[in-house]
Amino acid sequence: MKIYNKEELNDYQLSLTFDDVSLVPAQISEIRSRMEANTKTKFLERELGLPVLSSPMDSVTGIKMAVELSKFGCLGIVNRFGSSLEELLKSNEDTSYIKAVSVALNTEESLIQQFAERNYIICIDTANASNKAVLNKCEQIKSKHDVKIIVGNIAQGSILKDLVNAGADAVRIGIGGGSVCTTSIQTGIGIGQVSSLLDVYFKREEQKLNIELIADGGIKSPGDIAKAIALGADVVMLGRMLAGTKETPGEVIKYNDQLWKKYRGSASFGVKMKNEFIEGEETMIPYRGTVKNVIDAISDGLRSSMSYMNCFTLDDLRQINSFAVLSNSSYLERLPKK
Ligand code: IMP
Repeated sequence: MKIYNKEELNDYQLSLTFDDVSLVPAQISEIRSRMEANTKTKFLERELGLPVLSSPMDSVTGIKMAVELSKFGCLGIVNRFGSSLEELLKSNEDTSYIKAVSVALNTEESLIQQFAERNYIICIDTANASNKAVLNKCEQIKSKHDVKIIVGNIAQGSILKDLVNAGADAVRIGIGGGSVCTTSIQTGIGIGQVSSLLDVYFKREEQKLNIELIADGGIKSPGDIAKAIALGADVVMLGRMLAGTKETPGEVIKYNDQLWKKYRGSASFGVKMKNEFIEGEETMIPYRGTVKNVIDAISDGLRSSMSYMNCFTLDDLRQINSFAVLSNSSYLERLPKK
């Protein structure tokens, strides 16, 4: 079997996603316990305990989720839908938590100014960052305020330099890979998440660009998070993995003797009833209790992966260069059987 390094994976003739690749422990590990593996990282000058961001979706990140996540060293980006942003400005929640909000292209400047003054990270939340209006918005915010800006999403790196020139500090990578995303079906657009990430990663390295990379969409397990970091992501962004937890906005619903919570694509928000063209779906996720359970599982899985791979830090993990490309049967073999 061939062991691939990142460059070879980037040159692979087919587009790849998380289930197509796995990490190959190619060295003797000196880590005795997974607690020796350190998952701390810096993202946009903030200290994180884990490389995890929550997606700014209305069924994932409200104020409660953002506050709770920050207790575990993760960053929640409060969604821009409904009245979330106004509520946030009025809320008496502890303001010491790591703060980030999403805005739309048409979000009023006065609102953005208030968040900039409060030292929030601003995420310009759009489906396609390869768009003049997004670049203009980024430039405009940057020219008025001293803030960090996340833009997205992109599927490959050809416009990375334009994003950096417009003032973007971090970029969300992945189009069509989200678990409630129907973009690829509706439009035929999209590249596997691993290939997207690698393409952007190598553009950044080749052009020596100063921008942080967020692997966004299609991440289903702690193992996928380890893979994303090993493929060069600075952090990951999660939707479905955090959905269905107590801290997400929305009610717990009892149906067929089971508890559920709603999870829906951002594009489906508010337009469902109007029969408009949308590229997102709505679904129900079994209720999973507190988000701490999910974060603990991520922390354990990531540390364990680092210990197999002899990585004491996330920077060590980002340097990993031993990957397998899985046949479909070897992928299936890896799954637990009933
Ligand atoms: P998940 O973690 O696989 O559920 O993916 C979450 C990501 O899907 C988000 O962070 C967005 O990038 C993307 N996304 C969210 N809503 C939509 C939508 O309505 N259409 C397409 N993509 C979406």
